[in-house]
Amino acid sequence: MARNLVGYLSAITFLAAAVFLVGCDRPGDLESFATKGPPSAEPASVNVPASPPEPVIPWALLAHDNLHDPRNPSLALMQEPAEALSVLSPAQEGNFVNWVAALRSGEISPRTNVYPETKIRVLDLDVLMVDTAAMPVVLFPHRPHTEWLDCSNCHDKIFVAKSGANPVNMFRILQGEFCGQCHGAVSFPLTQCQRCHSVPREQALQAVPK
Ligand code: HEC
Ligand code: HEC
Ligand code: HEC
Repeated sequence: MARNLVGYLSAITFLAAAVFLVGCDRPGDLESFATKGPPSAEPASVNVPASPPEPVIPWALLAHDNLHDPRNPSLALMQEPAEALSVLSPAQEGNFVNWVAALRSGEISPRTNVYPETKIRVLDLDVLMVDTAAMPVVLFPHRPHTEWLDCSNCHDKIFVAKSGANPVNMFRILQGEFCGQCHGAVSFPLTQCQRCHSVPREQALQAVPK
């Protein structure tokens, strides 16, 4: 009898431990907590005050960005994009940083050259591109471009250095030509129409009488 009781008790203990392990130790649990947050709370009937919405953090964790190998132990040495980028001037899309504003405000001061003999040429010249149908005219500003790029990045492979001399249109830009070589790839995305189409037509025609 006593032996039986010990047998039952140890069987129950074993079962309880097994249930505990099965319940808590599923390998996905911690991971999904880290990426999705805690499971949603009780149904609303229990009079719990509504909590404010969780802040949306748009940057994926390095281990979940489908670019880095999550098994690589060196990943822990890298700074998470959310930590690095969330302190910079925000943008709505792309990588969620307005890099022009970040540079202008001094939030970042990137090194301009590796070799001392490299000449930095910042050109403060705006070019109006007026072939925009019903959209506001495009103002192409050299200054923010030449703060990041050299003349040779654009001239003359992408653009001939002459106002109106390039067969640019929106279709070709969307195909990745002209402005689309960079915008939508490494600089702000093409969905931000108004950052390029920034000058009302009447105002543009006053600036450059035909
Ligand atoms: C990176 C800068 C840039 C962005 C962003 C951009 N455009 Fe353009 N767009 C241009 C340039 C440059 C032209 C050609 C102007 C010229 O040749 O005089 C153009 C031309 C156009 C034209 C004239 C017709 C045509 O097919 O070329 C339309 C319409 C137009 N864009 C609409 C849009 C809309 C809508 C958006 C946003 C969804 C947009 N653009 C975003 C630069 C841009
Ligand atoms: C990001 C690309 C880009 C870079 C970098 C760039 N340009 Fe340009 N440049 C353009 C575009 C676009 C135009 C206008 C072309 C058009 O209207 O078809 C232009 C036009 C010009 C023009 C003609 C202006 C006019 O009124 O006819 C000159 C001159 C010029 N660029 C010189 C330079 C110099 C010098 C540098 C370097 C300091 C430089 N550009 C860097 C894209 C660039
Ligand atoms: C060689 C790459 C390259 C090309 C080609 C290029 N851009 Fe840019 N552009 C940049 C970079 C880099 C920046 C600054 C960083 C950013 O905003 O992503 C920039 C910034 C700008 C800005 C400044 C926006 C602001 O908030 O002040 C405008 C406007 C712009 N580009 C329009 C154009 C137009 C229009 C064309 C085509 C006629 C064009 N760009 C072609 C790389 C390029």
